[in-house]
Amino acid sequence: MKKVAVAIDGPAAAGKSTVAKIVAERKGYTYIDTGAMYRAFTWYCLKKGVDCQDEKACCALIPEVQIELKPNHIVICNGEDVSSAIRQTNVSGNVSYIASYKDIRLALVVLQRKMAEHDSVIMDGRDIGTYVLPNADVKIFQIASVQTRAIRRYEENISKGIACTYEEIEEDVKKRDYIDSHRSFAPLKPAEDSIEIDTSNMSIEEVVTAIIEIIDKKLAEKN
Ligand code: CDP
Repeated sequence: MKKVAVAIDGPAAAGKSTVAKIVAERKGYTYIDTGAMYRAFTWYCLKKGVDCQDEKACCALIPEVQIELKPNHIVICNGEDVSSAIRQTNVSGNVSYIASYKDIRLALVVLQRKMAEHDSVIMDGRDIGTYVLPNADVKIFQIASVQTRAIRRYEENISKGIACTYEEIEEDVKKRDYIDSHRSFAPLKPAEDSIEIDTSNMSIEEVVTAIIEIIDKKLAEKN
């Protein structure tokens, strides 16, 4: 079977990872969560006590950071399982600074492209369709209103036992949207050939079905 690459980009908490995981399972693709890699790098900077707004100090850590994405959504940073730690609010509040540093992006993009070399993949992030995998077979741009996204993330955090208030989540989502879409290198924006899905009023199953229909149609057109 031909190798397939699906890119899902969009703003914070639009539900990309939730649907990407399900689509990956149903289609037999490997799911790659690129946001988890920026989060792991951020976690490491915080652990080292480095100011995440100090680009030079953060980039100086590149040679000592090793990030691995394992099956079952396990994220390893320098041998430590950080899967839960990277979802905490201190990481969320700093990750967009880290993700705006070109040298860190270049280092992580090398790993992301390598992961897509041999398997069929569904990769989610901010710049997958525009920069990481510009030749992806299918490109989705998944959006939802700020309020919908903040409610989803708030409920997700509460269910995982992550302490937060709705107000701080809405602020975080807005702040990350701004930084992600205004950075100079590989900012968040839809690829010209992406298909936009506004999920504000859609259930998870409806989004999954819509994405699988788009994938099947695109692949049928190519064959
Ligand atoms: O799940 P959520 O939407 O909160 O974000 P994420 O996918 O875990 O990504 C965390 C952060 O990493 C984003 O807010 C971006 O700042 C950054 N990111 C990025 O710049 N490029 C990517 N390909 C993926 C994430």
